[in-house]
Amino acid sequence: MARRGVGITITQHILNQQRQNPEATGGFTTLLNELIVAAKVISREVNKAGLADILGATGRTNVQDEQVQKLDVFANQVIIERMQHVGQLCCMGSEENADLIEIPSQYPKGNYIIVFDPLDGSSNIDVNVSIGTIFGVYKKKSDETDIDMLLNDVLQPGVNQVAAGYFIYGSSTMMVYTTGNGIGAHGFTLYPSVGEFLLSHENIRIPEKGKTYSVNEGNYTYWDEKTVALVDYFKAKDKDSGRPYTSRYVGSLVADFHRNLLKGGIFMYPADSKDPNKTSGKLRLMVEANPLAMVVREAGGYASDGNGPILEIDPSELHQRTPLYIGSREDVQLAEEFISGRRG
Ligand code: AHG
Ligand code: MN
Ligand code: MN
Repeated sequence: MARRGVGITITQHILNQQRQNPEATGGFTTLLNELIVAAKVISREVNKAGLADILGATGRTNVQDEQVQKLDVFANQVIIERMQHVGQLCCMGSEENADLIEIPSQYPKGNYIIVFDPLDGSSNIDVNVSIGTIFGVYKKKSDETDIDMLLNDVLQPGVNQVAAGYFIYGSSTMMVYTTGNGIGAHGFTLYPSVGEFLLSHENIRIPEKGKTYSVNEGNYTYWDEKTVALVDYFKAKDKDSGRPYTSRYVGSLVADFHRNLLKGGIFMYPADSKDPNKTSGKLRLMVEANPLAMVVREAGGYASDGNGPILEIDPSELHQRTPLYIGSREDVQLAEEFISGRRG
C-alpha cells in the first residue's frame, strides 16, 4: 500500500505546510510555486540540450572567472524573469551576478530574499551527467528598500533560511526542499506526462554513517596534511569501522550530494592551495553550501566547514567561498575532528 501522502503534488505539500505554520503566508507559497515553474522550464531545456543549439560556452566568464555555458545563462535568466514579478521579493542573489539583483520598479516588492545557483555542475552539461539548481530563501530583517543597502539583509547565516532546497536534472527531475524547524526534507519527482512534481521521497533520513566518500582526489597534491590524513583514513582498511570506504564523485555538487543524502556518505570540497584566490575552498557559502546544509540537517545529517557548522557562519560577502564537509552525521563529525586538529 502506498504511504500516506506519497503522490501528492508539491503545491499541495507546500499548502499543507503553510496551514501548519501560523506565521506562513500565501506569499511564500506563491514564491516557491514560481520557482517550481522556472525549474520545469530549465528541466525541459536541459533534457533537449543534446539536440538544441544551446550547448557550448558563451565565450565569456562569470564573476568568479569560470567559463559560463549557455545553459547557465539561460537558467539564470529564467529564474530572474519568473521571480521578479511575484511581488514577494526585495532582491535576489545569483552565483552568476556580481551584485544583488534588483526587482524592477514596475513590480511590487516583498520581504523575502532568494539566493540561488541557477545551474550547478555546469561542466557536466554537455556530457549528460546530472546537474541542478540550488536555492535558499531568507526574510529581510530591516526596513531598507534601497538595493545598495540591502546587502546587510542578504548576508545572514544559513540558519536563518526559511526554506532551502535543490532541483536535480538527472535520470528524472527531482525537487528536494525543506522549510526547516524539524519539518523534514522531502523529495518530489517530476512526472513529465503530468507536468507535476509528485511526492516520492517523504521525510528523507540520511544514514548516521555511510560507506562512501566523495571528493576530487585530483586535488590531493594541493591539500594540507590534515586533509590528506582524513582522506587516507577513509581509504584505510579497518573492518570494525567499515573501511575502506568506496569513492563516488561526478563533479556536480547537487548530484554528489543527492546520492549521499539517499544512501549515506560524505561529500568534501576542502580548502586547497590550487588557486591562491580560493584558499578557503571552491564552493560558495550562500548559494551552494547553506541551502544543502539546511536540507541535510533536516534529514538528520550535518554540514561543517571543518571547524564548525556551515549554518552558523556569518557571511561577509555574497560570493564568499567555504570548505565543505557534508553528509552523514558521524562521517562529517569525524572529518571535523581531523580538520580542526582534534585528531590526527
Ligand atoms: P558550478 O557549475 O555552479 O560552477 O559549480 C561547480 C561546482 C560543483 O558543482 C562541484 O561540486 C564542483 O564545482 C566540482 O569542482 P571540481 O571540478 O574542482 O571537482
Ligand atoms: Mn555550483
Ligand atoms: Mn552554477
